[in-house]
Amino acid sequence: MIKTKPDHAMASPAGRKIAPSRPRKRPRTPSSLEAALRRSEQLTRGIIDSLAAHVAVLDSEGRIVMTNDAWNRFARENSPGRPRRTGVGVNYLNVCRSACGGESAEGAEDILGGLTRLLKGARESFSFEYPCHSPNERRWFLLQATRLRGPAGGAVLLHVNITERKLMEGKLLDHERLRVLTTGLLNGQEEERRRIARELHDGLNQQVAVLAIELGMLAQKAGGELSAGLRNLQQQTIELSDHIRRISHRLHPAALEYLGIAVALKAHCAEFSQREGIRADLSIEGDFGKLAPDRALCLYRVVQECLANAARHSGAREVLISLSRSGGDADLVVIDNGRGFDAAQRGKGLGLVSMEERVNLLGGCFELRSEPGEGARIHIRLPLEKEGAA
Ligand SMILES: Nc1ncnc2c1ncn2[C@@H]1O[C@H](COP(=O)(O)OP(=O)(O)OP(=O)(O)O)[C@@H](O)[C@H]1O
Ligand SMILES: [Mg+2]
Repeated sequence: MIKTKPDHAMASPAGRKIAPSRPRKRPRTPSSLEAALRRSEQLTRGIIDSLAAHVAVLDSEGRIVMTNDAWNRFARENSPGRPRRTGVGVNYLNVCRSACGGESAEGAEDILGGLTRLLKGARESFSFEYPCHSPNERRWFLLQATRLRGPAGGAVLLHVNITERKLMEGKLLDHERLRVLTTGLLNGQEEERRRIARELHDGLNQQVAVLAIELGMLAQKAGGELSAGLRNLQQQTIELSDHIRRISHRLHPAALEYLGIAVALKAHCAEFSQREGIRADLSIEGDFGKLAPDRALCLYRVVQECLANAARHSGAREVLISLSRSGGDADLVVIDNGRGFDAAQRGKGLGLVSMEERVNLLGGCFELRSEPGEGARIHIRLPLEKEGAA
């Protein structure tokens, strides 16, 4: 292998190596050393004081030997008249000991235990979140304690204000609780509807049907005027039975479970048009044969509520319902040509709210567009697979 000479060692014409000339350092005088030391200390101090975290350095016994501006400010603001309670010279382990059992005891024992072990060298670092509420503010802090390197030992403590994160976590928790509650309420409502529908259909309706048959038999036997009266009663009873059956289907569409969303929607739109005298034009594109029951029920309930609103509030003569697939989503658009309304002022009804909730709970999007005089348009996009199911 050929070795090349390093750049800085060149041969002179006489063959002797000449080292490159380096700038010679001037020896530092004591005063320039002191100035350099001062600058370095100022820099360290500046860095520590610029930190938003409350910083303190402890010696191996737990005595505070250094604090930063944020630590001192917090001490002044939170112990007016007694900021020295957590100042330089004070033993921080004693501060924790006196906090144990006091008003702000939560976490003090854990911090004391963690710090004691850390100062003894049993661990390198630990962190701990704790509440530190003031009379007019709820606050939380994160303590991060790290063992100082070097033979002298000691520790550096950082208290970071994590209130914003904690409040956000609280809001997320509230949101999650609300989501669970809403899901429970909607499921409970569906279960209740299913139970009443079954009772109406299999109980009451059966009895009314038997009554109609018996009235028919009586009419046959009676003859004359009484027979005509009985036939009339039988007809009314048949209509009543039909009415009960329709209510039962509206409460819980059994067709949805057994025949699928397309058949159930067609039946509902036909029954709606006949009952309300409003044209309900349904178009379905794509295969909706194997929908999960919760998705099918959601689509069905949205159409049902849109049609109910159109009949109750819009004065529309026609409603267009279009259901199609786009990728893994279902797109449902319901448009009426009625009087419309200010979509920002939805009033106290529950129909639109629960429609939106149903869709959101299944990970879908809900959009309502309406203005007075412009009709109403509702568009929902619903993922047909549960999130994470692939
Ligand atoms: N298609 C529509 N055309 C005109 N106004 C509508 C239409 N849909 C809803 N609205 C208006 O929005 C309001 C809120 O509707 P929503 O369905 O939430 O409640 P509701 O129908 O009044 O009562 P609920 O549905 O709880 O029985 C209605 O009261 C009505 O003023
Ligand atoms: Mg409504």
